[in-house]
Amino acid sequence: MCGIVGYTGKKQAKSILLSGLDILEYRGYDSAGICIEENGAFALCKASGKLERLREKSQNHVFSGTCGIGHTRWATHGAPTEENAHPHLSSDGSFSVVHNGIVENAEALRAMLKEHGFSFRSDTDTEVVPQLMQYFYRGNVQEAFLKTVKMLSGSYALGAMSTYEPGKIFAAARESPLLVAKGADRCFVASDAMAFPLEDLQIYSVEAGELAVLSKNGVLFQNTDGEAITKQPIQVERECIQHDKSGYDFFMLKEIMEQPAILAKLAQTDMGKLSLSDELVQSVRCVHIIACGSAYHAGLAGKRFLESLAGVPTFVEMASEFRYRSPILEKGDLVIAVSQSGETADTIAAFRYAKEKGAATLSVVNVLGSTLAREADGVLYTDAGPEIAVATTKAYTAQVLVLYQLSLHLAEKRGRISLEESQKLKEKMKKLPQKAEKVVKQAEEIRKISEEIKNVNHIFFIGRGADADTAAEGALKLKEITYIHAEAYAAGELKHGTISLMEEGTPVIAIATQKALYDKMRSNIQEVKARGARVYAFTPDAQIAREADYALYLPDTDEHLGSVLAAVSLQLLSYYTAIGKGLDADKPRNLAKSVTVE
Ligand code: G6P
Repeated sequence: MCGIVGYTGKKQAKSILLSGLDILEYRGYDSAGICIEENGAFALCKASGKLERLREKSQNHVFSGTCGIGHTRWATHGAPTEENAHPHLSSDGSFSVVHNGIVENAEALRAMLKEHGFSFRSDTDTEVVPQLMQYFYRGNVQEAFLKTVKMLSGSYALGAMSTYEPGKIFAAARESPLLVAKGADRCFVASDAMAFPLEDLQIYSVEAGELAVLSKNGVLFQNTDGEAITKQPIQVERECIQHDKSGYDFFMLKEIMEQPAILAKLAQTDMGKLSLSDELVQSVRCVHIIACGSAYHAGLAGKRFLESLAGVPTFVEMASEFRYRSPILEKGDLVIAVSQSGETADTIAAFRYAKEKGAATLSVVNVLGSTLAREADGVLYTDAGPEIAVATTKAYTAQVLVLYQLSLHLAEKRGRISLEESQKLKEKMKKLPQKAEKVVKQAEEIRKISEEIKNVNHIFFIGRGADADTAAEGALKLKEITYIHAEAYAAGELKHGTISLMEEGTPVIAIATQKALYDKMRSNIQEVKARGARVYAFTPDAQIAREADYALYLPDTDEHLGSVLAAVSLQLLSYYTAIGKGLDADKPRNLAKSVTVE
């Protein structure tokens, strides 16, 4: 989703801004722009489409300035055109702004500004911000910025500059991540720590009600009353991710292939270090898992583990819906936010709501120092390393494994399983990485299946028990990166509706890793075959494999974790299908990696 970068220092800003935008590219965007202050005026360059276009266009101008802001835009208000791309300027050209989030009262502010003679060039909500700065400016940019910020409702991360005070960047944020970094003779602002150069920097998070003023000499923080505040730097993950595909054609394939190693590392995690009190662990009444997208599917797996192993009633809720159904949160409830980025706006909003209601909170996140990691009572890191491909792979399986370990930990602590039993399960878990290795080695087999399905318009994913959740994840992955309409169904539920869609040749991916459900699954496969479906079974079971039209043999494993192996095989299926269709597996259309608007 939208990304902000800004730099003020002694070097020319252009290449620093463009490198930062390159790194933010993975978040998803459809236009981009930079604005650099030069001899008392702004030099602006914007382009719709990929960053290459911005790079090309920016060659037409020298851009000698040393202070600038840049942006990748994921369209919300207005089409992804050049006019709507950020940075946006005020009517008189003296204020320039980049923005992430949504100004919810933009219409009213526009109307007010129009009454005062302002005219607008774009359809964006953002353009009101530089215009308001111009409107409020009475000789002090900081004051104008503060007054502007106070007028805005909704969420924002803002970077602003003014020709009246060259060399300064003004930053503020509410419900949208924004970081500033201080180095020697330079300061940076960005919506993601990865966009900062890998040098010695002190990094700070800009929180609601705070204003940061950056110059080459350092950064000053103030509250909204203009009073100076002191802030502590934070620890965040910063790895050089830019072009490191480790020889793979796409980050997605690299990330899929990393899974055996990540699962092996996670299998060694010591849950004893869990920062939730023993008292809470013992007394937890029920768990609410809130998450979006694939993380929601990991939550469904977590529910099965928490209920079957630890005996804790668990509800899984799409974070975007959580607040709107008056959820019942009581003492003894634990809310677990699951998120790769730790910055998903819907998840953060649901999480903060639960916190306000007094629930204890735990986050399962991948990005160190992200908002959900910082704000939770306890954090479990999925430790999967930076994930660049928009469609998640390694972070998803890591989430499932972490939730499994958490469930084992709760089960032990609450006396639901003996230490011996828990030890046995842990031993089986430690074999999972080897088995995941076997799955990724079947890449060629999976690619052959992808050849068969790459030209279909519709496909079904079915499974029972934990495999029904994996079917949902498999279908989501395929939709995300291949644009094939995929529908996931609990196999037993098919006959209550969806079976009406089966006809000659309808492709059905049947996932069967749950021994106790093999017989039932066989019946469901027969039901669709009888109606002409072409069945691709992903299973360790020879009999199911024989009954299918095509089978991918999965390694046999513990009933709890079999669906993790199925998920890895389905990730490969989506990947090869996308490649077979000539699509960019890393950057699917319309999607963003880090969704920072609700
Ligand atoms: C976006 C991504 C999905 C991801 C979801 C949740 O929609 O495209 O792949 O599952 O956000 O992201 P999170 O960072 O919270 O796990």
